Amino acid sequence: MPDSTVVRLDNISKTFGRGRKRVEAVRQLSLNVEAGQVFGFLGPNGAGKSTTIRMMMDLIRPSRGEVYLYGRPVKSNYQLMRRVGALVEGAAFYNFLTGRKNLEILARTGDCYDPVRVQRLLEQVGMADRADRKVQGYSTGMKQRLGLAAALLNDPDLVILDEPTNGLDPAGIQDVRHFIRDLVKKQEKTVFLSSHLLSEVEQVCDQVGIINNGRLVQTGNVTELLSAQSIIRLEVMPLDRSLGLLLPAWPTTANGRWLEVQAPRDAVPTIVNQLVAAEVQIFQVMVQQQSLETLFLAATGDANA
Ligand SMILES: Nc1ncnc2c1ncn2[C@@H]1O[C@H](COP(=O)(O)OP(=O)(O)OP(=O)(O)O)[C@@H](O)[C@H]1O
Ligand SMILES: [Mg+2]
Repeated sequence: MPDSTVVRLDNISKTFGRGRKRVEAVRQLSLNVEAGQVFGFLGPNGAGKSTTIRMMMDLIRPSRGEVYLYGRPVKSNYQLMRRVGALVEGAAFYNFLTGRKNLEILARTGDCYDPVRVQRLLEQVGMADRADRKVQGYSTGMKQRLGLAAALLNDPDLVILDEPTNGLDPAGIQDVRHFIRDLVKKQEKTVFLSSHLLSEVEQVCDQVGIINNGRLVQTGNVTELLSAQSIIRLEVMPLDRSLGLLLPAWPTTANGRWLEVQAPRDAVPTIVNQLVAAEVQIFQVMVQQQSLETLFLAATGDANA
């Protein structure tokens, strides 16, 4: 494992309950997250995202397999948790205290009390003007923002965020996206976030892992994943002969004057060269990128089948 590997999930599984109540929430999941990345953990409701995150935080233990952070097993390694900040599902605050007071208490318990830092974090998450109101009057989105600030109190190297934009309005979602990109770009942190929102992962993450039914069904670089399965459309003459040329290598169909080839974007030069060498006339070439949505549906759909 290279030094730059921040998170390593080594074949982890988690089973809840017994007998008829047995749920395999996470199944033989392995993945690595490198330093300086925003890793997006994408999956539908009940896929196993929060369970995985709870195992990463040593809040629950895997039934099998091991979680490593910075090359060390998280199991009972409390020191390691100093380098980690997290926003987990349903962050709990004292309702009768203000947002600021809540952060200050958390900072004290975490041995990182610094009122200036608390103020700066409140500003960063857009809560400075509401920080001195009691949490009981906060909306879901406001609590979520406070939770984000709480995750960063100890200036962690690794920030783990379970559905960070839950309950936020469109402007809030935009804020949090910028916030996350800044964490990586300006503060050199590593971010692991879960989401069921494709657009979020598409816009914020460098790497993505798709989870469904407890299984990791796909991982990769977001741009590569998107370009891996494109539809390349070519207007060519003669059509039938071109179809015959490409079919052995790529799934290809003819549609009017166009050929539609399912292939990665990288294959365009090869395809064009092959056709030109066979003296096919090419009038137009267009690459239609698949959306992450299609990719996600294909990946999760396959796993259901
Ligand atoms: N403590 C538990 N006891 C029993 N089953 C559990 C427990 N925690 C999670 N599960 C089950 O494990 C599966 C995965 O749940 P998990 O909360 O990890 O999903 P998720 O991907 O976070 O979903 P969501 O998008 O809804 O937050 C679900 O079937 C859930 O019911
Ligand atoms: Mg969840």
